[in-house]
Amino acid sequence: MKPVRFGIVGCGAIGPTHAGALKQLEEAQLVAVADTVPERARTMAEKFGVGKIYSSDHQLIQDPTIDAVIFATPSGMHAQQAVQAMQSGKHVVVEKPMDVTLEACDRMIESERKTGRKLAIISQHRWDHASIFVKNSIDSGQLGKLILVDMSVKWWRTQQYYDSGDWRGTYRWDGGGALMNQGVHTVDLMQWLAGPVESVFARCATAGHDRIEVEDVAVATLRFKNGAIGNLLATTAAYNGQPARLDLYGTEGSAIIEGDRLKMFRLKNGTEVTAEGASQHAVSVAMGGTASVKDETARRLGAVSQQDPGTIWGDAHREQLRDFIRAIQTDSLPLIHGVEGRKPVEIILAIYESARTGKEVRL
Ligand SMILES: NC(=O)c1ccc[n+]([C@@H]2O[C@H](COP(=O)([O-])OP(=O)(O)OC[C@H]3O[C@@H](n4cnc5c(N)ncnc54)[C@H](O)[C@@H]3O)[C@@H](O)[C@H]2O)c1
Repeated sequence: MKPVRFGIVGCGAIGPTHAGALKQLEEAQLVAVADTVPERARTMAEKFGVGKIYSSDHQLIQDPTIDAVIFATPSGMHAQQAVQAMQSGKHVVVEKPMDVTLEACDRMIESERKTGRKLAIISQHRWDHASIFVKNSIDSGQLGKLILVDMSVKWWRTQQYYDSGDWRGTYRWDGGGALMNQGVHTVDLMQWLAGPVESVFARCATAGHDRIEVEDVAVATLRFKNGAIGNLLATTAAYNGQPARLDLYGTEGSAIIEGDRLKMFRLKNGTEVTAEGASQHAVSVAMGGTASVKDETARRLGAVSQQDPGTIWGDAHREQLRDFIRAIQTDSLPLIHGVEGRKPVEIILAIYESARTGKEVRL
């Protein structure tokens, strides 16, 4: 089969991760990159040996040699760019979050449906060994009936991080803070593993940073449709950061994912699985691990690095892009298509509404 020809729009912090991931995939070819800051596009093109450089999303979208476009641009631009690209006949990947309002997400879903193009929303932690292992365990009933879910993302972002881009920390382009930008990964994993959320009651605050509109602390209690209740905590003001953690407690056992790895998996019947067991189980993900707590921007700006030398940033992105290419080549749905990508955004916006109104919000 012919490789899928890609263009990447946005050569900032995460753009190069996509370029590196595509370079590892035989079924993909990276033909063009675009950024409104020419220097960034040039640097990325040189690093990854890309022939074409554009200075706008519009130019790249019009390139007839491109089959699929990845948007690694500020979150509040995703819908407008994705819809334009799908209407021009391109398959589309957007970075997380899908966009920052439900209206924007719905426009993308409508365009996906009308144009028949493939749309995928990045949430790469679904491809971590630990996530796949726990998902299979829950789906096969091993944990029993879910009772309690506890998610926490206690990360640290410097003031310099927020000051580094004029879109960061704004409602219009970032859509929110600790939850919409950073916590969205774990919110997506949580709802993928624990199932749909029914209602939320939340409090948010901006407490540890200046010159940002959005929250840097969020807490919420959750009720899931399956009857479980949960606890959620996300912050970018916890000096100097802890690994993200997701605990799932069922009637038959417990699972804890910490820092993208299986920290604990124990069933009442005596079964116990370690992180190594989880990675052997998830054979579809390359060895080397996918722990990706570390954020390239944070690292670049000298914020805490939780880098584990034994892991390779970008593995999980590569696996999600592989899934996207499979969807194009077999005319099927990618794992995280439009409706899937909208789910964490809906939960986060409900949390914001609850914090604003002081009331429980039903989804
Ligand atoms: N999956 C992950 O782990 C992960 C990590 C970091 C960021 N992200 C997401 O990726 C997106 C980008 O984040 P970032 O940290 O890389 O931001 P960034 O500001 O570092 O990079 C964005 C780039 O897009 C460019 N750009 C803006 N408008 C453009 C346009 N119209 N045409 C072409 N280029 C344009 C900017 O010049 C900039 O270089 C966000 O949605 C963010 O949430 C995801």
